[in-house]
Amino acid sequence: MTLAAVHSTPFSTAHPSEDIAVVAQDHESQRSYLRLTGGRRLSGELTVSGAKNSALVLMAACLLTRDTIRLRNVPPLTDIAGMAEMLTSLGGKVQRSADALELDGAEIHTSTAPYELVNSLRASFFCIGPLLARMGMAKVPLPGGCQIGTRPVVEHVKGLKAMGAQVTIEHGVVTAVVPGRSHRLSGARIHLDCPSVGATETLMMAAALADGETVIENAAQEPEVVDLAGLLLAMGARIRGAGTPTITIAGVERLHGADYGVIPDRIEAGTLLLAAAITRSALRVTPVIPDHLSAVLAKLEEAGCRIERDGLGLTIEASHIRAVDLRTQPFPGFPTDLQAPFMSLLATADGTSMVCENIFENRLQHVAELQRMGASIRTQGNTAFLDGVARLSAAPVQGSDLRASAAMVLAGLAAEGVSQVYGLEYLDRGYAGLEHKLQSVGACIERVDPAQQLGANQAIAA
Ligand code: EPZ
Repeated sequence: MTLAAVHSTPFSTAHPSEDIAVVAQDHESQRSYLRLTGGRRLSGELTVSGAKNSALVLMAACLLTRDTIRLRNVPPLTDIAGMAEMLTSLGGKVQRSADALELDGAEIHTSTAPYELVNSLRASFFCIGPLLARMGMAKVPLPGGCQIGTRPVVEHVKGLKAMGAQVTIEHGVVTAVVPGRSHRLSGARIHLDCPSVGATETLMMAAALADGETVIENAAQEPEVVDLAGLLLAMGARIRGAGTPTITIAGVERLHGADYGVIPDRIEAGTLLLAAAITRSALRVTPVIPDHLSAVLAKLEEAGCRIERDGLGLTIEASHIRAVDLRTQPFPGFPTDLQAPFMSLLATADGTSMVCENIFENRLQHVAELQRMGASIRTQGNTAFLDGVARLSAAPVQGSDLRASAAMVLAGLAAEGVSQVYGLEYLDRGYAGLEHKLQSVGACIERVDPAQQLGANQAIAA
């Protein structure tokens, strides 16, 4: 029964919950999914796109200047489109040509960010720093939590206050104002309670135009932070120490335009390397900056993979996979964003593995889905214990966040039979055309859009 049929038919005598179940089931049948036939070896070369978590914050930095910023190697993702929408709502102009974005922040006419945009894309909260530095005030809704955790922004707010902003939070909106005639933030020494990536990036952007020197201690060291520093330096900022726990920014009067290339996405690269490992294949993945993935490469080698570095690429070969233990940590430790994808591999490893998620409080939801595929996993708090199984079995599974969805795709590549992976609204946020990339190296995977199929069937029937 189609969704329309259920709505047009008066409630049947059946128990109402059955109608609701039918609607829910129909809703399920309306959603796109990836259909995978597992058990195939992969071979060939996979290309890594630009880093989502770098491109997003680099886009926000365009608010710091009236000149044009050109960003190259920007991946075509829904999150990128969301940030473009945010910048446009503030008065910015965003144009894409091939893999480059032209960002023009000359006509920023408001410092109020719309709730619905911040709610749909957490990263747009990062605009608060540049907006405050540029306009002397910013009104940005709290981004709120998400599937993996509460995602607080306490450190972001604490740092802006230290730089002289008056910040209030009312009705879910953060309002920050720089008092005084100059509307200019003042440099400050800020010690972060935790090495928050977003807080570090927000405060770097705010400090770039502040009056005086800002020192951020216990700063995040992620490659995306270093990439932001690279763009800001190209714009004329004065920054040193990015990539270390202490970043010093000497504020300048103004910043100018720049033409800058986004680093390769280390999390996508790790996901593609894991596709080779879980199918016991040999693949080349390029471009990769090995230092951005050192903890992940070490774990893959500990698990039995052979990895060769050649210029801008990595070649990985996997045959027998051993169990390993891993604990997520801030960079340079093992990245939380690859915890779920790596767990899919460990579900098929020889032996018992332990996976400890130390960054987010609720990032083990993919365990239940892997169990539906036959994985043997026990959890205790933020730790999962896996007894590897010889083969996972195909099933319909659901990704609960961006990286959990990627983990389900990996598991589907290895599972016996045909799996359906739902949660593409998450996957498309961080992986550009993952199914096409995997198809190109021999995976049996396709995107199924029932609504399109229904339309096609109706056209044939007419
Ligand atoms: C960035 O999120 C990434 N997102 C995340 O990637 C990534 O998982 C995360 O960094 C950690 O590496 C983007 O860059 C857009 P955090 P962010 O502030 O900045 C706690 C993906 O899948 N914390 O470093 O929001 C927080 O609760 C996404 O691509 C505080 O306690 O992460 C969390 O436990 C998911 N107080 C930890 O720090 C604060 O004020 C890391 O958060 C801020 C954060």
